[in-house]
Amino acid sequence: MEVLDSVVVGAGQAGLSTSYHLQRRGIDHVVLDADAAPGGAWQHRWDSLTVRDVHGIAALPGVAAPTLDEGRANEVVPAYFADYERRFGLPVVRPVRVDAVGEAEDGLLEVRAGDRAWRTRTLVNATGTWSRPFVPAYPGAATFRGRQLHTHEYDGPAAFRGQRVVVVGGGASAVQLLGEIAPVAADTLWVTRKPPVWRTDDFTPDVGRAAVALVEERVRRGLPPASVVSVTGLALREQEREAERLGAYERRGMFTRIEPDGVRLPDGTLWAADAILWATGFRPAVGHLAPLHLTSRFGGIQLDGTTAVADPRVQLVGYGPSASTIGANRAGRVAARGVAAWLDAHRPSMASSA
Ligand SMILES: Cc1cc2nc3c(=O)[nH]c(=O)nc-3n(C[C@H](O)[C@H](O)[C@H](O)COP(=O)(O)OP(=O)(O)OC[C@H]3O[C@@H](n4cnc5c(N)ncnc54)[C@H](O)[C@@H]3O)c2cc1C
Ligand SMILES: NC(=O)c1ccc[n+]([C@@H]2O[C@H](COP(=O)([O-])OP(=O)(O)OC[C@H]3O[C@@H](n4cnc5c(N)ncnc54)[C@H](OP(=O)(O)O)[C@@H]3O)[C@@H](O)[C@H]2O)c1
Repeated sequence: MEVLDSVVVGAGQAGLSTSYHLQRRGIDHVVLDADAAPGGAWQHRWDSLTVRDVHGIAALPGVAAPTLDEGRANEVVPAYFADYERRFGLPVVRPVRVDAVGEAEDGLLEVRAGDRAWRTRTLVNATGTWSRPFVPAYPGAATFRGRQLHTHEYDGPAAFRGQRVVVVGGGASAVQLLGEIAPVAADTLWVTRKPPVWRTDDFTPDVGRAAVALVEERVRRGLPPASVVSVTGLALREQEREAERLGAYERRGMFTRIEPDGVRLPDGTLWAADAILWATGFRPAVGHLAPLHLTSRFGGIQLDGTTAVADPRVQLVGYGPSASTIGANRAGRVAARGVAAWLDAHRPSMASSA
């Protein structure tokens, strides 16, 4: 079997940025992506998420970002990624869902997907979080007669017209989905386990850097990355003013239990509900790395930059501090440098100094 210098798993912003930098360094690699089409997680975002709604899409290296005026994010960004892959001839193979990455002989890694396998000297994991929605366990959840869904399955406000909807979670998804649902629903109830922290200042680059540094510190210590909102805080935009006027952001503490017809609030009252929307975030999609035992005793994958401390053949991008388009971009460059350094150290004859 051919031995590659690197395999990148995932072709979202993080994987494409990595592939671009590996290619520039002349490092022989493939990018394996589970999706049938270009676009990473963006192709799965709900239809009502327009480019005007997103926080911002950083340019992939070497090509300006799409102009953010109108259009659906789930069309505009995938078209940008598709063009990017073509323009640079990036070696993306899809659809390939990697099941496991394990040890092969001679210090190589084996990447397995169904009955296919690749041997590689290094691996860059860029699998994001979208495929691992997180729904916490609350007592009585299985008894609820209404609909339960996660942000991951949300496909616009129309399904909630005239309904009583509970939205759980204090992140950007909860704020944004309440903004869409409250104006059409009969009523909404927003519950979070911590009081939301509203930003009143501008989210300047300095504030952004400070937020990233906080997540970076956790990951450097091997802790699981914290929820993004826990370091960035929340803000309301024009799109959310109608929901605000309707009182949708008057947040309540978590319910004590879920019952067949609604949720029981801490004051003992039952809030009757037709639907519970779990806007409770995502977890890193890293289950396929389990055979490599990268997880620290603190429950996260400890990174030095983008390099896994437990196995320096492995880089992680789009993980923790680099789980944003701008962070993923930068991480791609750092990871390619990490791959080159590892190859240089283990194959001294190889030229890889772009
Ligand atoms: C609703 C929403 C809106 C957001 N808006 C913004 C924003 O405006 N600005 C911003 O900077 N960030 C935003 N983010 C954060 C965003 O997720 C990241 O910025 C970025 O898109 C993540 O890129 P990625 O490459 O790490 O992951 P993804 O885009 O998720 O790409 C991961 C790729 O890996 C593939 N994959 C997963 N598992 C496997 C496997 N086992 N085998 C093979 N392939 C696999 C997937 O198919 C996918 O193509 C948003 C997140 C959400 C949920
Ligand atoms: N327009 C946009 O650009 C846009 C829209 C939506 C999302 N996003 C991005 O998408 C990413 C994910 O955002 P997100 O809002 O989906 O997730 P998130 O930022 O991780 O927030 C998840 C929320 O769920 C809460 N939660 C977790 N476990 C819980 C539990 N057991 N019980 C109750 N609440 C619990 C968290 O609370 P704790 O803080 O207490 O853990 C947090 O408030 C972020 O990068 C965000 O910026 C962007």
